[in-house]
Amino acid sequence: MTTGAATARKVETMILRGGKPLEGEVALRGAKNALPKIMVASLLTGEKCTLRNVSQIVDVAIVSDMIRALGGEVREVEPGVLEMCAADLQPMEREVLREFSGKSRIPILTCGPLLARFGAAPVPSLGGCRIGTRPVDFHIRALEDLGATLHDEMHDAYLTCERLQGNKIRLEYPSVGATEQVILAAVRAEGVTELSNAAMEPEIMDLIMVLQKMGAIISVDVDRVITIVGVRSLRGFDHTAMPDRLEAASWACAAIATNGRIFVRNAKQFHMMTFLNRYRQIGGDFRVMNEGIEFWRAGERLRSTALETDVHPGFTTDYQQPFVIALTQAEGISIVHETVYEQRFGYVEALNRMGAKIQLYRECLGGLRCRFGQRNYKHSAVIVGPTPLHGAEIEIPDLRAGFSYVIAALAAEGASTLTNTGLIERGYENLMEKLKGLGAEIVE
Ligand code: EPU
Repeated sequence: MTTGAATARKVETMILRGGKPLEGEVALRGAKNALPKIMVASLLTGEKCTLRNVSQIVDVAIVSDMIRALGGEVREVEPGVLEMCAADLQPMEREVLREFSGKSRIPILTCGPLLARFGAAPVPSLGGCRIGTRPVDFHIRALEDLGATLHDEMHDAYLTCERLQGNKIRLEYPSVGATEQVILAAVRAEGVTELSNAAMEPEIMDLIMVLQKMGAIISVDVDRVITIVGVRSLRGFDHTAMPDRLEAASWACAAIATNGRIFVRNAKQFHMMTFLNRYRQIGGDFRVMNEGIEFWRAGERLRSTALETDVHPGFTTDYQQPFVIALTQAEGISIVHETVYEQRFGYVEALNRMGAKIQLYRECLGGLRCRFGQRNYKHSAVIVGPTPLHGAEIEIPDLRAGFSYVIAALAAEGASTLTNTGLIERGYENLMEKLKGLGAEIVE
């Protein structure tokens, strides 16, 4: 498993010949947006922590390397099972931080655990996908609300505290990362923290379940309020990570875009209900089984729709790009209003080169109050379909867009050359093998 070297085994170019339906089965493992955060939670204790259902993805490798660089242990004891122990954790050195910041969004989440254990934490600059400015102001403000002091020396920021103190915190926007930041910091703070306007993504619930196993006291109310009663210490955990609902949705879109049929083993209906409703509305069909969900087209044609991305339980932004590929094959005019990231339509230009008819607008084409409407970002898309797609040469800009180009290339006539495909491995395990298993034609 690539937990040792964050940059190992990257396939950078892929040539795909499209026009054939994808048919067969793929299996999901642990969610990309849950696993690394659960690994960070292991830093909150000196006891052994066991994490199961771990996927072979780059973000897991990066966090494994980061924990080791902090003096912790990470061992793969059997395929897909990691044992972690942070008994000998060391304060974060700036050099260590520099090595990992820029590669991933995860290092910022170490602030809470490091403040709890050492009273000091450097603030990393962040990596991750290029889909907007992605600032960390909510994270820092929330940590300050919990009693941390921010020091900024020559652009090297760090936080200090005696012991974090529980507080009432309201997030300006239900940010996933900032919600996780508050939870990871407040579990060992003194007193009670009440976080309102929190994100409620299933991956956050998975993290909360881990923390509860560790001895934390966290309650989740229906109105986006999460209450955390701080405890002095936490113990180890044994946890099986939730399956990757975003990967499941990606394969579901691949099934209808190529007019194929894909069984996604381990996909869970409960995590994907909003997606499944939309999928059915545009002419996709599915069968939910105990072992997973099977996806295909209900009839010959797909139908257009109007949708807005939103925080959970809305239509998650990470479903957006693969769904748009399916919409290029739907009859009529579809509208997609992206309300989570200001620049998540960068991938459209290459799709149009492949034959899609997508026009971007600065206006909010939808009813949701959105932060980008008055700020000159092209964050609404109008998609006219169905349009036959043809092969093209495309450089992949980010993870979800990358997988979407794979779907588009497989739905297109002729060959497409995709470069920078290593980015897809941030979140999709064994991509080549899975594609081959579904009958995709990959030119070696
Ligand atoms: N935001 C701020 N300030 C902050 C934090 C966030 O303005 O301090 C803004 C962001 O710029 C963005 C919005 O709030 O416009 C939402 O960002 P959020 O914090 O929710 O995103 P994140 O935690 O950085 C995670 C996932 C993303 C996913 C988003 C939204 C991980 C590692 N990443 O990012 O996943 O899109 O939540 O659900 O969990 C992906 O999987 O492809 C991916 C990008």
